[in-house]
Amino acid sequence: MNTIVTFALMVALALVGGVSSATPRTSGEFMGFCAFQGAKLADGHWLGAYCLYDVLTWSYSYTWIDLDHCLANNGGELISWEDGAFSGSCNDCSIANTSTTLHLTCTCWDPEGQKKLASTIDLNTALYDSGGCAGCFSHTGNMSWEGP
Ligand SMILES: *[C@@H]1O[C@H](CO)[C@@H](O)[C@H](O)[C@H]1NC(C)=O
Ligand SMILES: *[C@@H]1O[C@H](CO)[C@@H](O)[C@H](O)[C@H]1NC(C)=O
Repeated sequence: MNTIVTFALMVALALVGGVSSATPRTSGEFMGFCAFQGAKLADGHWLGAYCLYDVLTWSYSYTWIDLDHCLANNGGELISWEDGAFSGSCNDCSIANTSTTLHLTCTCWDPEGQKKLASTIDLNTALYDSGGCAGCFSHTGNMSWEGP
């Protein structure tokens, strides 16, 4: 549990310290170019989705991205954070859509590692589409022509 607490503290301190100067792209309006139809969550942290590959032909490819590159557990709350490795301290994750976006909900350990809190993040604020691959920060997922 100590590593989780330390990690959460580091994230909290980093947030307080500010990350303004080199903030990477975190929101590319994922849902504008990717579809929640066919989206899947595997092993609690791999997200699969159809994303727009070619605007001219309106074709989609299927992409898998490891959300551990994209999200962190900040004291029981899911946040967009590069290489945040949230799945080390969050589990029972599931995805659900509203009519406009895709949410990830997990239960995540609080900073003291005493209890688990439910947390939801709008994946549209964390991911973007890069030519048919889902991406976050400097990471992009892989791509295939056929969905699962
Ligand atoms: C998305 O969510 C709506 C309810 O908000 C539901 O009616 C619809 O079936 C869902 N679509 C998919 C593909 O899961
Ligand atoms: C993409 O990554 C997923 C998850 O690791 C894997 O199951 C899938 O086979 C990969 N697809 C391709 C085309 O590399």
